[in-house]
Amino acid sequence: MAKQIMPFFTIGMNLPFLRNIENLKGKRVILRLDLNVSIKDGYVFEDFRIKKIIPTLEYLTSKGAKTVIIAHLDKKEGKSLEPVARYLFPFFPKLRFLPDLYSNEAKEEWKNLPEGGLILFENIRNWKGEEENNPVFAEYLASFGECYVNDAFSVSHRNHASIVGVTEFLPSYLGPLFEEEIKNLSKAFDPSHPFLFILGGAKFETKIPLLEKFLPLADKVFVGGAIANDFFKAQGNFVGDSLVSETNIDLSKFLSNEKIILPVDCRTQHKGFRYTKKPSEISVGEKIWDAGEKTAKNISKLIKEASFIVWNGPLGNIEVGAKEGTIEFAKMIASSNATSIVGGGDTITALEKTEYFNKFTFVSSGGGAMLDFLANETLPGIEAIKKQKHPPKIPKPASKKSWLKKIFS
Ligand code: 3PG
Repeated sequence: MAKQIMPFFTIGMNLPFLRNIENLKGKRVILRLDLNVSIKDGYVFEDFRIKKIIPTLEYLTSKGAKTVIIAHLDKKEGKSLEPVARYLFPFFPKLRFLPDLYSNEAKEEWKNLPEGGLILFENIRNWKGEEENNPVFAEYLASFGECYVNDAFSVSHRNHASIVGVTEFLPSYLGPLFEEEIKNLSKAFDPSHPFLFILGGAKFETKIPLLEKFLPLADKVFVGGAIANDFFKAQGNFVGDSLVSETNIDLSKFLSNEKIILPVDCRTQHKGFRYTKKPSEISVGEKIWDAGEKTAKNISKLIKEASFIVWNGPLGNIEVGAKEGTIEFAKMIASSNATSIVGGGDTITALEKTEYFNKFTFVSSGGGAMLDFLANETLPGIEAIKKQKHPPKIPKPASKKSWLKKIFS
């Protein structure tokens, strides 16, 4: 049995999963999904997360469950999940989209839901009780089901009613996508070597726990994206108008760490012109946008030699279309022999439509949740399932070996 699956054994063996429910026929299931996708002009623009949960919906409908889906949408994407319902409808013609979970129509539809039927409720964050984790709201949500399944790994770092609160009232399980996430991400806790960790994106303060955790575990840590600007600044370089963390972070303990590799050149933008420069050459008003080509060349040897790569966060500012550095790294990783685990919302935005996207070993659906899971080896959503008041009985495996064999065969 390969060493990298042992962490999943430690985290996953005693957790109840959807596959542990023996008879789903006619069973009322509350299914929490993360359908927080990019929507433009009323249409789904990025469907990565939706595609990932289609097998879960197919499983529940084919087993005859009566499923109520609870999901959220980030305020910046608008308030309504209706475009997502329209996207799902060709796959699941029996799906009903219900805008108001308190309406008589909702209660009536719920009562008459056929076996294999699906209800999708409107954006759960439109109700105040969700983000407050209000217990009355959580109990109301629970009243729609006989059991609860969380297949929303990517929002399970939130202490919200539909993630945490509802587990107080119903036997609760994790779904298949959640299981895949734990199985793949937990490989990082007992990595094969050489292990290359690549950390990009912005908001350095949210990434410090990851650096602290993975510096001892990884052989090399490449730091890119806006968080590299914080390093350039701490090294005494002038960074012009480049994005840096708002808070002053003491980087001295990281600066002297020989495992950390920084970009050797940067793509920049100044007065409408683009340049490639060394981090020490940035002038007044100039912005670092991305890692440069030399940086990619320098890292190529490490990528080729790596046995295991974890990558979170893009190397450039994706919001302004600076994708080149991220794509150069993706190309090298996709053609390497390493086990590769990639994630983060902006990284997915940059890579989803490229030919490299399907070539990684695993792409996590999580942004903040991936960071938190990697840093803490758990999430509030997992802890809630572990500590639930009505734990479902799950068949105990005969031995650790038989359990691993069943899960990984
Ligand atoms: C995400 O997009 O990372 C998840 O859906 C969580 O969204 P949130 O950061 O708005 O809670």
